Amino acid sequence: MSTFRGVDHVGVGVPDIDAAVRFYGRVGFSDVLFDYTGDVPGPDRSARVVMLGNPGATPIGPGRIKLVQVLDGDGPPPAPTGGGWGELGICEICLHARAVDHVHRQLVAAGAESLMEPLAADVQPHDVSLDIAYVADPWQGKLELIEWTGLWRSLPGNPRAEGVNHVAFGVADIDRTRAFYERLGFTEMLFESTDFFDPMAPWYPGEPPDQHMIMMLSAQGGAIEPVVLDPPGPDCRGEWGHIGPFEFAVGVGNLEQGVARLRELGVDLRGEPQTIDVGTGEWRYAYFRDPDDLYVSLVEARY
Ligand SMILES: [Fe+2]
Repeated sequence: MSTFRGVDHVGVGVPDIDAAVRFYGRVGFSDVLFDYTGDVPGPDRSARVVMLGNPGATPIGPGRIKLVQVLDGDGPPPAPTGGGWGELGICEICLHARAVDHVHRQLVAAGAESLMEPLAADVQPHDVSLDIAYVADPWQGKLELIEWTGLWRSLPGNPRAEGVNHVAFGVADIDRTRAFYERLGFTEMLFESTDFFDPMAPWYPGEPPDQHMIMMLSAQGGAIEPVVLDPPGPDCRGEWGHIGPFEFAVGVGNLEQGVARLRELGVDLRGEPQTIDVGTGEWRYAYFRDPDDLYVSLVEARY
């Protein structure tokens, strides 16, 4: 068992967390693992935080979603504006799905906006086929649905959205990001693309940029999809807890061991490791500094 266990969850800022729990419940995230209101040291905000698991999670769609509603200051910081996809910051959550077209239809019927109609594609260099579609959640967060048909045809069962397959984020230097996250266990490259993905063209406010993206897999947990745009577009990192996907966490079995490994690797922590009593157990995390100063943490899930 390696120290780092892939993407454990993606954090999503929302203005109305009860409505968000209902929406993501319809997307399959019906397990409330904890529901905490109070101080969140590290980012040092007061927030309500709900960790959601998906009972349909599989090894290829294992990740969770953490909803955050910032309660102090002026409330939830607004979503960064002016971007399309892949600008500096977290830009999407991708769920693995069995029968993408079916799940896409279901979500649209439930009130989500379609951002990309289902289509089939393949990625190189391993010629892996996939089905893909996008919707926006009610707060305009980009939610990708993917079925990696070229990896396996999914586990049997009814059409469903599984857990998080990967998180996408914009970076400044893709080689630097790749080297950094390889040391955190994301060692296998599933694909690399320097072709602009045409169905995304309508998302950009102006002329679409060039896109260079890769997907890095960890042996366990969700994957990462760093993207670099040329030209880079606006800084879309925003404040902690901003509306939309804003952070992700790498799972560890033991926080002290994970922190010790980060220190060995020369990675700086942002603040001290934290243990929060969430009633049903403990939420343990430590934020660390990645090459682009994204909001990234280690998490030990004792809930
Ligand atoms: Fe993606």
